[in-house]
Amino acid sequence: MSTVTTSRSIKVTINGTTYEREVEARKLLIHFIRDDLDLTGSHIGCDTGNCGACSVIVDGSLVKSCMLLAVQADGATVETVEGLAHGDELNKLQQAFKDHHALQCGYCTPGMLMSATALLRANPHPSEDEIKKGLQGNICRCTGYWNIFEAVKAASE
Ligand code: FES
Ligand code: FES
Repeated sequence: MSTVTTSRSIKVTINGTTYEREVEARKLLIHFIRDDLDLTGSHIGCDTGNCGACSVIVDGSLVKSCMLLAVQADGATVETVEGLAHGDELNKLQQAFKDHHALQCGYCTPGMLMSATALLRANPHPSEDEIKKGLQGNICRCTGYWNIFEAVKAASE
């Protein structure tokens, strides 16, 4: 029995580095980022677009990378959680998460950080309701959300 594999060469810039790889047409962007590029900061919590753990920013827009094929990101500029810190120094939002105990197991945290990054870029001083709305696509099983909202609020001040 023969199998048909359709693959294509793609070029994606992630956190300032351009990667050129051959990928199967069916490969999801999250699998490309994690498995092919070894950028394992972005997590997979569901594979169905519900949890937000895989959230990344593609050409300036927040995207759940389990909902996009890698080939659809051909030519795109992608930001992942690995790109937030400045060397060993946490950025303001990451530091606020640390200071406000906004994580426990940390599984949701990369996605929360990317969603909050996108929110704060679009709206640097969000209200509490706007923060809740900005993070509504991200599920956390640990924190009860309150400390996460507090961290985002602190980062916006
Ligand atoms: S893994 Fe993408 S939304 Fe859950
Ligand atoms: S900190 Fe554990 S899922 Fe959010």
